[in-house]
Amino acid sequence: MKICVIGTGYVGLVTGACLANLGNEVFCVDKEKSRVHGLIKGQVPFFEAGLESLVLQNFKAKRLFFSTDLVSSVERSDVVLIAVGTPSKESGQPDISAVIEVTGEIARALKKRTKKRRSNQKYKVIVNKSTVPVGMGDIVTKILLEKNVPKKMFAVVSNPEFLREGSAIADFLHPDRIVIGASDSRAFNVIGELYRPLNAHIIFTSIKSAELIKYASNAFLAAKISFINEIANICERVGADVKEVASAMGLDKRIGREFLNAGIGYGGSCFPKDLSALIHLARENGYNPKILNSVIDINEFQIEAFVKKILNLLEKADNAQITLLGLSFKPGTDDLRAAPALKIVEKLIEKGIKINVYDPCLRKNTTQMRIEIFNDVYLALKGSDAMVLVTEWPEFQGLDFDRVKNALKRPIIIDGRNAYDPKKIKELGFMYLGVGR
Ligand code: UDX
Repeated sequence: MKICVIGTGYVGLVTGACLANLGNEVFCVDKEKSRVHGLIKGQVPFFEAGLESLVLQNFKAKRLFFSTDLVSSVERSDVVLIAVGTPSKESGQPDISAVIEVTGEIARALKKRTKKRRSNQKYKVIVNKSTVPVGMGDIVTKILLEKNVPKKMFAVVSNPEFLREGSAIADFLHPDRIVIGASDSRAFNVIGELYRPLNAHIIFTSIKSAELIKYASNAFLAAKISFINEIANICERVGADVKEVASAMGLDKRIGREFLNAGIGYGGSCFPKDLSALIHLARENGYNPKILNSVIDINEFQIEAFVKKILNLLEKADNAQITLLGLSFKPGTDDLRAAPALKIVEKLIEKGIKINVYDPCLRKNTTQMRIEIFNDVYLALKGSDAMVLVTEWPEFQGLDFDRVKNALKRPIIIDGRNAYDPKKIKELGFMYLGVGR
């Protein structure tokens, strides 16, 4: 098929490259010229394992194209995927202005086609992949109709994306399910056909259900994390170990072990934003969502409690300095958006503590914060009062703990992700503090 993907952010670029790799002809569009020029040279503007080679490979094979020209890219395509950002406004409501703007452009392209070939109008499926409030499908349809695009020329579909940063390509190729929300059987068939090579479980729903499935899934995963964090807080008070509790809970198939890792809480570009959007949506419709509010409260509490843990240990330390291991919101990515580590940094800086950081994916200080970034973990640890792990990069398992001890001023490890075995770390001569153990 010929596909136009609007937006070359995380979702758009991964989707575009993967669809091209399946044999489709894909036109990726972005209004940012420098981004498009970079992509044409094979420069992916963020880190995602395997993405750069997939982009290059498909670009060379002339299946993947990059352009700033939305109208002509849409004109050429059978399917148009909208994958632009919907960041949170201060109210928690998602900002849908980019979706509205590109819908206006899509209308221009569709109308151009109508004028050009009155006899052979080409039907297009407009697919919303951006995470949008429930009802957005109707808004997109309304805009297109208001702009005099004939109804028979298009269908609007909601096809939410569930990929995770760090494993986005594998998630695209092997999804647990694909959700297609539409009100038109022709559109169901077109998008069903697009995904047929993946041999995945496809669920056909109404547009509104599809839109809500995305929010409900992310909210449930965030709730699972806050739930286990609450149990961790109880564990700390009664002397149980949350890792043991989670492992046994997870063996119950109805519960499952995934997303039961206690720690400093969730971050990233999706969970915080989607939770706020769902709460906003519920309130707007006259319902106060109690569980969802608590999910956020607990996530914030985890940061407060963790900072207190650090401060309690540093109380008597003059000129305190700590070393953070990791900064990104999770391993496998350089993404710092809503990273819990940043909130921890902010609070520690307020207390006047000097902060060294080592993150395998961070080579310079891209934050506005007063932190020092090191390229060598042992140099970062030199003279610090504690090593504080905030992102569980696998390489932190292989540290030379003798060197760690020699580098630190005091042999203290505070583990915000329960990445280490407390017994082993204590045997190595460290004081160890985890979360809920
Ligand atoms: C998430 C969803 O998983 C994905 O389906 C959706 O499309 C986008 O949002 P992502 O933000 O890439 O993906 O990261 P994810 O792996 O889900 O982790 C989110 C946050 O939760 C991270 O900060 C992670 O550290 C935290 N987390 C995850 C925990 O604290 N405990 C866990 O057990 C799991």
